[in-house]
Amino acid sequence: MLMERTDVQQVSNAMMNMLHAEEIDIINDFHDAALAKDVEKVDELFAVVEFDVEDHFSEEEQMMEESQFYGMQMHKSEHDTMRGKLKKLRENWDKTKNPELVIRFLEDDFKHWIVLHISRWDSETAMHIGDTN
Ligand SMILES: [Fe+2]
Ligand SMILES: [Fe+2]
Repeated sequence: MLMERTDVQQVSNAMMNMLHAEEIDIINDFHDAALAKDVEKVDELFAVVEFDVEDHFSEEEQMMEESQFYGMQMHKSEHDTMRGKLKKLRENWDKTKNPELVIRFLEDDFKHWIVLHISRWDSETAMHIGDTN
């Protein structure tokens, strides 16, 4: 297990909290598969992670657009940075199928990123959007 659902802050929007909880579950399965060096399972879950992360980011971006959140560009650019890192990881994974790459990415980068991103950007965005979704 990479992290607990409680490692990330609850924000004031139920939809966002749900997206975060789901993502942590998927990421934990992905991490478990990589630790087990189960290449087939990592392959399968990689597609699920890509879909889920894109769904998470684009849902938030749509909510920000609808509510005209003043920090949208900055928040979105943090998503774009992570989109780029995930794309790079995908390229390296396809070339090497080395589970260690996935483990290093999740433990050294993604985990810290998501905790900080939620406490910095998602919480502020959620306060702006409110809980109307
Ligand atoms: Fe988020
Ligand atoms: Fe976000």
